[in-house]
Amino acid sequence: SLPRVYITRQIPPEGLKILSESGQVQFDLWDSDDVPVPRKELLQKVKGVDALVCVLTEKIDAELLDAAGPNLRVLSTMSVGFDHLSLEELKKSILLQLCVCVGIRVGYTPDVLTDSVAELTVALLLSTSRRLIEATHEAKTGGWGTWRTLWLCGYELANSTVGILGLGRIGVAIAERLKPFKVKKFIYTDVAPRPELASLIDAEYVSMDELASQSDFLTVCCALTPETKDICNKDLFSKMKNTSIFINTSRGGVVHQEDLYEALSSGQIAGAGLDVTVPEPLPISHPLFTLNNCVILPHIASASYSTRNAMSALAANNLLLGLKGQPMIKELKL
Ligand code: GLV
Ligand code: GLV
Repeated sequence: SLPRVYITRQIPPEGLKILSESGQVQFDLWDSDDVPVPRKELLQKVKGVDALVCVLTEKIDAELLDAAGPNLRVLSTMSVGFDHLSLEELKKSILLQLCVCVGIRVGYTPDVLTDSVAELTVALLLSTSRRLIEATHEAKTGGWGTWRTLWLCGYELANSTVGILGLGRIGVAIAERLKPFKVKKFIYTDVAPRPELASLIDAEYVSMDELASQSDFLTVCCALTPETKDICNKDLFSKMKNTSIFINTSRGGVVHQEDLYEALSSGQIAGAGLDVTVPEPLPISHPLFTLNNCVILPHIASASYSTRNAMSALAANNLLLGLKGQPMIKELKL
């Protein structure tokens, strides 16, 4: 009989169509996009499946792999980030089964979302630096008394230094879009220089301290790993200029949120734009929501119709290729 697949979310139609029309799998799915599948239901549904399509709200850990059992050989996440996957546990599955040279293979969806994430990052940056959310609020709630000389003034990109924390495909795409705004200089830091990527945008490699002290706009584009957890903390914020803007469209876990709150409320930095937080959703009672200089979006960086469908299609194609034992289009090296 056909391999069994469980899909943890009602993913966009393109991916579902590819799976249905392939005739190569039978699948069951959590038929909602409004609430994630309850953990208990997920653990039951994965029993005995050959493959799993998931999104970033599902923790793929030892408990889940145990519940799935030994048939599970392909995992396909509809995301570029993979901090919701316990790579250690997935690696173990390979070691245990090394004698037969199989293990769980993992697909993900980089590249197809780069344009959408870069575009949103620029939108968030400008919304923060030019105070758009505050401004529309003032306009419609009676705050617009008269045209004023310094009212709602912000900071401009022209002549600025933009710093990128973690230079990858997305960081390059952001810089390419910011360049026409007459940015003076791009700088970046990472675990090591990345000369091929840096040369595309003429970015200079600097230390973390230099990144903090020189950036007028600091944008975080790194993956969340044990090494990057909380790297944006008091130490970093204290070295930033009080006119600088902090942007994060990667993962909330790279930021120490209490330290960020402190930096924003004390005026240590000028503003922050966040598409990601810990936890998600961020409770509406969270102190960050009380700050006028903090723009918070509900994790929508890749949310364009075309990109979400492309991610869905890529996740489906990765899965089908993985089940056939062929190289996936985008496969994580474990
Ligand atoms: C979104 O955050 C993703 O990882 O695709
Ligand atoms: C702004 O609207 C100006 O005329 O300076």
